[in-house]
Amino acid sequence: MSRTVHVNGAYVPEEEAKISVFDRGFLMADGVYEVTSVLEGRLCDFAGHIARLHRSLRELDMPAPVSDDALLVIHRELVARNGVEEGLVYLQVTRGAHDRDFAWPEGLTPSLVLFTQAKPLIRSAAAARGIRVVSVEDLRWRRRDIKTVQLLYPSLAKMDAKKRGVDDAWLVEDGLVTEGTSNNAWIVTKGGSIVTRQLSNDILHGITRAAVLKLAAEAQLRVEERPFTIAEAQDAAEAFSTAASSFVMPVVEIDGKRLGDGKPGPVARRLRDIYVENAMATAI
Ligand code: PDD
Repeated sequence: MSRTVHVNGAYVPEEEAKISVFDRGFLMADGVYEVTSVLEGRLCDFAGHIARLHRSLRELDMPAPVSDDALLVIHRELVARNGVEEGLVYLQVTRGAHDRDFAWPEGLTPSLVLFTQAKPLIRSAAAARGIRVVSVEDLRWRRRDIKTVQLLYPSLAKMDAKKRGVDDAWLVEDGLVTEGTSNNAWIVTKGGSIVTRQLSNDILHGITRAAVLKLAAEAQLRVEERPFTIAEAQDAAEAFSTAASSFVMPVVEIDGKRLGDGKPGPVARRLRDIYVENAMATAI
């Protein structure tokens, strides 16, 4: 079924949506994006995603294409027009179109594209069984805090994981886990501490990560923001990842080593429940 998508101010059927071949997003991966989840037809953590979008734009010296109010209207309009009850809204802003050149001229008009993806998020088969990951060297650029559309390396890492018969890859740099291909990485130590890497330019500042940190603290769980190795993760009581597209996703195997009994752990399951409950209660 054809979706309605948004391109530069217009709502159009997906087959009719067009972007210039000279768009710097297409030629140079010169663009940023956000993915916001939808539950019961409403947007989760919208303010957080908009705040991070502004941060990404600022870091790349790119103007916002429209106001925040207009972005909210577009998100809601696409969710309504496509009848999305559960799923995602993808937003992309690129620097705009210009004849190919590494340098760009002042005053380019940014391109704005949004589309929806209907997807069951709460009742996820992967979350029920837990996912298996392998470690892959992190060869991405050094500004992973900016949510750019240059996703080739994470795509290669994910394909590598799939070829090896598992679900995802955790990226490792200088012996320490940075994050997953499209999610933040966490472990629960045998002592009960929840550990995830501290914010820096080495990882994306996940909106789900921030929410889970806050909710874990409110639930009196002990949280440490520090890096960890694959060996520490393999020896942990539990592991999980977080992202807008998967919420809290239990990880049950790392580089062939099963964690615990190989089933999603109680802390990950509890955090997933708390996250979903909070996301529904605060969605707009
Ligand atoms: N990815 N780290 C990376 C590298 C990511 O690509 C993502 C999100 C996250 C989690 O961020 P958040 O909690 O704000 O979704 C961490 C999105 C979902 C994607 O690329 O589809």
